Amino acid sequence: MRATGLRAMHRAVASMTLHSGTPSGARGQRCVRSAASAAAAPATENAPKPIYLKDYAKPQYAFAKVDLDFALGEASTAVKSTIRVEPQSANAGDLFLHGDESVELVQIMVDGGAFTSYKRSPKGITLSGLPQSAFELVIETRIKPQENTALEGLYKSGKNFCTQCEAEGFRRITFYQDRPDVMSIFTTKITADKAKYPVLLSNGNLIDSGDAGDGKHFTVWEDPWAKPAYLFALVAGELGMIEDKFTTMTGKNVTLRIFVEEHNLDKCEHAMTSLIKSMKWDEDVFGLEYDLELFNIVAVDDFNMGAMENKSLNIFNSRLVLATPESATDADYAAIEGVVAHEYFHNYTGNRVTCRDWFQLSLKEGLTVYRDQEFSADMNSRGVKRIGDVARLRMSQFPQDNGPMAHPIRPESYIKMDNFYTVTIYEKGAEVVRMYETLLGKDGFRKGMDLYFERHDGQAVTTEDFFNAMCDANGADLSSFKPWYSQAGTPNVTVDGSYDAAAKTFTLKCSQNVPKTPGQDTKIPVMCPIAVGLVGPDGKDMELTMDGASHGTTAVLRFDQAEATYTFTGVAAKPVPSILRNFSAPVKLTTNLTEDDLVFLMANDSDAFNRWEAGQTLLRGLCLNLIKSGEPFTMPASITDAMRKILSGAKAPDADKAFIARAMMVPGEGELSEFLEQGTVDPAAVYAARKFVMTTLATELRADLEATVAANSAAKYSNEPADRAARTLKNACIGYLSYLDAPEIAAMTYERFAAADNMTDKISCLSALSGKDCPERVTALDEFYAAWKHDPLVMNKWLGIQSGSSLPNNIANVKALMKSSAFDIKNPNKVYSLIGGLCGSSVNFHAADGSGYEFLADVVIQLDDLNGQVASRMVSAFTRWKKYEPTRSAAMKAQLERILAKPGLSENVFEIVSKSLD
Ligand code: PHE
Ligand code: ZN
Repeated sequence: MRATGLRAMHRAVASMTLHSGTPSGARGQRCVRSAASAAAAPATENAPKPIYLKDYAKPQYAFAKVDLDFALGEASTAVKSTIRVEPQSANAGDLFLHGDESVELVQIMVDGGAFTSYKRSPKGITLSGLPQSAFELVIETRIKPQENTALEGLYKSGKNFCTQCEAEGFRRITFYQDRPDVMSIFTTKITADKAKYPVLLSNGNLIDSGDAGDGKHFTVWEDPWAKPAYLFALVAGELGMIEDKFTTMTGKNVTLRIFVEEHNLDKCEHAMTSLIKSMKWDEDVFGLEYDLELFNIVAVDDFNMGAMENKSLNIFNSRLVLATPESATDADYAAIEGVVAHEYFHNYTGNRVTCRDWFQLSLKEGLTVYRDQEFSADMNSRGVKRIGDVARLRMSQFPQDNGPMAHPIRPESYIKMDNFYTVTIYEKGAEVVRMYETLLGKDGFRKGMDLYFERHDGQAVTTEDFFNAMCDANGADLSSFKPWYSQAGTPNVTVDGSYDAAAKTFTLKCSQNVPKTPGQDTKIPVMCPIAVGLVGPDGKDMELTMDGASHGTTAVLRFDQAEATYTFTGVAAKPVPSILRNFSAPVKLTTNLTEDDLVFLMANDSDAFNRWEAGQTLLRGLCLNLIKSGEPFTMPASITDAMRKILSGAKAPDADKAFIARAMMVPGEGELSEFLEQGTVDPAAVYAARKFVMTTLATELRADLEATVAANSAAKYSNEPADRAARTLKNACIGYLSYLDAPEIAAMTYERFAAADNMTDKISCLSALSGKDCPERVTALDEFYAAWKHDPLVMNKWLGIQSGSSLPNNIANVKALMKSSAFDIKNPNKVYSLIGGLCGSSVNFHAADGSGYEFLADVVIQLDDLNGQVASRMVSAFTRWKKYEPTRSAAMKAQLERILAKPGLSENVFEIVSKSLD
């Protein structure tokens, strides 16, 4: 999930538009949801029941081997599953197999004879009186992929068949122990119409194929690696393919294929390049070599999430594969690179070593996000990548951690596992993995990874196993680190520095507290690695000494008490401390740094992240003061000067322009509202304050902004990093200028829109125009539509730009767009773009008359019958209702209650809504 306008929905639904031309546009690629909860559901009689970690019990039956046989048909599909079952003890008892109500059971056979000693229930089937030693179980079922709008299990996307089995989709195909600790060797036979489905794919190696008579053909695939059912995949359709190859570190040849609809074949090159880079990187950095001779990627248009790591047959949302400079933005390119890598990296972290149960999801997701972040950092600018990742964490994970859906990275309960593909599991999970690296060093971290694979290859394990491997490989005692797995909530850390000129010491006084979260009233201190430097008056890092030991220029404090004091000695002159370098722990930091200190760090800190952070701290403080003061807005000259200085840095020959673009960004409305008192947030006021800051800066820096736009306008598109960075900066400046109410700016933006030779520039200009009530806006939208109406992915951008607009009374426009041919409520990308885009608008979603809320609830109710996952992702925009001022909060609550009253509400939506109302 990684949730773009949708990525993974990493971000809050509220920030789900894909269209941003700013540097933040890359987020969200895996489609991770930004809301979910571990709190208990209300004890209504028929309410869905939660599943608890504490109830985990080992499976009593192993599945040594599974043969699947699919006969794909137009009306229905027949599935025959032949399983070699091995009881794990003499009295293994009943065997429970998961199975969805939509699956028709045809027959069951045990060791060749009909078997009738079973009981079917809504969630599966219980077999009793089974043989006490190994036996063969055959289950025949019939399913209707054509009617499957949930996009889980076997379904049709366009004319093609495909599957999605994580987390619990395999039970929509057949009856099975659909749990990740049941690992088996799968063989898959697929039979289908030859003309309609020339391509038939599954996991592993192709071992047989041929004609099946009657216009049909078949393939047989064998996957030699034992795997849980959630990694099973099947694809059948009419698809074109590009092929490349990779030679591994030990000289083995791997064939790489990307399958897409024929007309998209020219859009796969970037995904292929990304795959090859990922394979090489995993060898270089972790010594991990691909383990089969074939690696396939298939792109499908209808997909709930970002992409899926099925063994050797990754299935992707097409928006994370297809790209040309004309049709995809730089942010799309970055997302594709990151997600292709992410899914490939799962081959070891997820597939070879998998999760014991779904409570361990962060074992594979947190670790794999950390790995894809590191990969992208190595391929691009490390500092800018880190800034983007932290910005996303703050924008969507911090709010989740502070709301009714707060849950630890290893949750204790869930109703619907789909709801736990969250920014907490993914992004906070990645931060937790990163902290091992910070504490143990790069080499120590690698040693831990090596031991993890040495111990657990081929197993289904827990986060505790990962923790133990890290500790044991390094002889480290990290017991105070463990609460990161069990405690929800973002720790508040305060660090106050003081200089003693006489003693030549610098002392840091640290304190921490973890706030209460639903179901967790008491918390204990947790180990926070705090990376600090002392920047001397000359702007250079000082050499650090503490307790007689040298710490180089950045010391990592292992802060694991409620309070602690650290003293550096031999500090010759008063420094400015640079605290939490590289964001060394996912905490909310408060310091006693002054405005002057922050300006100094902006100019001098050797740590790119903290250089950026110093500016953000200043801007955040400014915006919050404006929001809270109730006085007419005024702008301190110091901030304008600081911003002017940042911008003028772009003229330096070695300027990091992508960094400058980042540094110019004013914290978003969502981030700002997190700092306001619960029950008081007025989105209109937050919007107005931020708009004032942007408009004032644009007014005062207009000449500099225009000069920067001019200096960074390339005559021709290029994908070189320096050109990309210049483009990012230029478009950030155009975004600023769009705040000016000047017709010549709208005219300039339109001209640039019309002349743009790449999607990044086009979308940035369209975005800049989208909030303006000017003729250029209408013309540009119409022209864009005419040029791109044939391309659904580009149309998603067009939908998102319009629905995210701050033009007043935009809901009518969104309603009209829902009726247009560019929209289809059954396609998740379109819902994320159009509906998710609206949810990001302070003006329209949060319209004071409640019309935005009512509209969203209508859509959720409609979606609920079609696709519970997508519906629950959309309903998540309501979860923080308590944060808002009384009128809005009551209006949101009323809509949640209306949704809860819908008969036959899906478990997905029930879980989010009931926990929100709790
Ligand atoms: N495991 C996928 C990933 O993060 C996400 C996913 C989960 C996709 C569930 C589909 C369904 O890479
Ligand atoms: Zn993943």
